[in-house]
Amino acid sequence: MPKIRIAVLASGRGSNLQSIIEESQAGRLDAEIVLVASNKADAGALERAGEAGIATCAIDHRQFKNREDFDREMVAALREARVDLVILAGFMRLLSNVFIEAFPHRIMNIHPSLLPAFPGLDVQRKALEYGARFSGCTVHFVDGGLDTGPIIIQAVVPIHEDDNEESLSARILEQEHRIYPRAIQLFAEDRLRIEGRRVRILNPDRPEDRALINPPLS
Ligand code: GRF
Repeated sequence: MPKIRIAVLASGRGSNLQSIIEESQAGRLDAEIVLVASNKADAGALERAGEAGIATCAIDHRQFKNREDFDREMVAALREARVDLVILAGFMRLLSNVFIEAFPHRIMNIHPSLLPAFPGLDVQRKALEYGARFSGCTVHFVDGGLDTGPIIIQAVVPIHEDDNEESLSARILEQEHRIYPRAIQLFAEDRLRIEGRRVRILNPDRPEDRALINPPLS
């Protein structure tokens, strides 16, 4: 199967990028990262990409008078790299329609909560403060809303009595690193079909049907 060409957009440390690089290098992903782009020149993600020999580009959003102009510049870079799929991994910019319409159904995001619970920012803290017993992470296609697009894959993690924001974030992040490469591989295998709000997976693996209960019953 020919590999799809992906770009990863990140504003921060880039641990999700790293997991995708490692899966790709291990030959477990039918995807080649052709570009890592950031709105921050000092993002750790750009450094990780450089170390892996991946092309990078930094476009400072502050140089543009509005969101659309920044997005046009980003889209031009992605088009030039002939990208099939755009992967947002801690990219701290909202996308305008200019961006979304340039890559219809071809932009994914990862979010550190079980959507639709807790969209937005600081969501690990919000899940703790709410008193939720479970949280997790979600990979979804990006639409015009804030963390609202069709859901591809989710992982659930328990929230422990003695958790703080840091410990919960770490538990969720571990699962992020597992599910994002999986979502990309499903796309690469052309097994995702968006039907309204739902993403249908062709030839799905048998789902886990064990219930999770926290605190446990015994
Ligand atoms: C992750 O928690 C991701 O879910 C959120 O931003 C964070 C990015 O982390 N969207 P990293 O830069 O991939 O380490």
